[in-house]
Amino acid sequence: MTTSTPATLLPKDDGAFAYRGVMLDVARHFVPLAEIRRLLDGMQLLKLNVLHIHLTDDQGWRFESLKWPKLTTVGGTRSQTVVGLPGNYGSEDLHPENYKNVYDGKPHSGFYTQAELRELVAHAKTKGVTIVPEIDMPGHMRAARAAYPELGYDGVQWGVGTGWGVYREVLRVDEPGLQFCRDILGEVCDVFDSPYIHIGGDECPKIEWIDSHVANKQVKELGLDEKNIEEYDKLQRWFTAQMATFLASRGRKLLGWDEIIDGGVPGDCVVMAWRSWTKPAERAVKLNVPIVQAPTTLYFDHAHGAAANEPLSIGDGATLQEAYEYDPLAGVEDKPELVLGLQAQLWSEYIPTTEHLWYMAFPRLIAVADIGYYGAKRAPWAEFRAGLEERVKALAALGLVGRPLDKE
Ligand code: ACM
Repeated sequence: MTTSTPATLLPKDDGAFAYRGVMLDVARHFVPLAEIRRLLDGMQLLKLNVLHIHLTDDQGWRFESLKWPKLTTVGGTRSQTVVGLPGNYGSEDLHPENYKNVYDGKPHSGFYTQAELRELVAHAKTKGVTIVPEIDMPGHMRAARAAYPELGYDGVQWGVGTGWGVYREVLRVDEPGLQFCRDILGEVCDVFDSPYIHIGGDECPKIEWIDSHVANKQVKELGLDEKNIEEYDKLQRWFTAQMATFLASRGRKLLGWDEIIDGGVPGDCVVMAWRSWTKPAERAVKLNVPIVQAPTTLYFDHAHGAAANEPLSIGDGATLQEAYEYDPLAGVEDKPELVLGLQAQLWSEYIPTTEHLWYMAFPRLIAVADIGYYGAKRAPWAEFRAGLEERVKALAALGLVGRPLDKE
């Protein structure tokens, strides 16, 4: 691994990698502002410089929109939440809610006002952290569809998601859908000053598009074969390109999960490489697209090692040592200048409390921070491990108590 200094739009600092991030999913479980501030304190200590905040998903919309107020008054609350591991993730029909699942019967709510988020952005800046907001589109839109059924091609009324998994209900991507996205991204640009705006782009099933005469016509008008289901990825690329153009008009660059290049490169963008099994980083850099590495190894909603020995989580995950040994340049050593950096993911389906959030995050976030800040010059594992006691104590003093070190 060589140390690189890739081109970045983020404020320059001395880190080996320019982008050293944490993604926080506040959609599946709302995280109070005071706890986000606590995380920012820890990030400052560790020299992590990006908080990617996942503000919307099927199970909750957390960003106040003045133009589309029902997003939070309706989309900000789900009626209940699946308990434990769901009996059905929805892979058969992409409707994760069914008779096999058990629910808690309790509503879950929360959203941030624009004033609160503006204040958070300013506060983060004092900690050396840029907040990158994500509005996930055109998939993961069930909460928005619950608020405004007209955002789907078929106008069917659905509820906010209550199960975990990928939903079939997505956004229409003709003019009404585009206008909705421009409205929301416009408001996002008014609130957040980040040079990168994340538009999600992940896990968008194309079933509704394939079934819609309007979408069929759009595909045909793009010069594609509307009868070939593979071509619908190109409709997503076209949609993403419209968003990239809109964001460029506001002086911002589009960032998206690696599905955004499945149908080709949608213009000026940065890819967040997550689906390790599809080699997204290699695919992106071959196309000269810059990347942020967010591989499943750095999915800290997964257990510390074997899930069977840990509190309920989505599955097995990286141990602290495995996280520390992750190399952001592996497989893309020939184009280090395209690797902006790396990011840990805190998806929150199985993380209902902040105590549990910190347990999942730490001490693995210390490993990510050191990879990002020191790159190839970071300490060997044994030395890193020996120095952890003090660092863990300093984080605990901030209220960020992770998995006990004696379990590592
Ligand atoms: C993702 O894990 N769906 C980006």
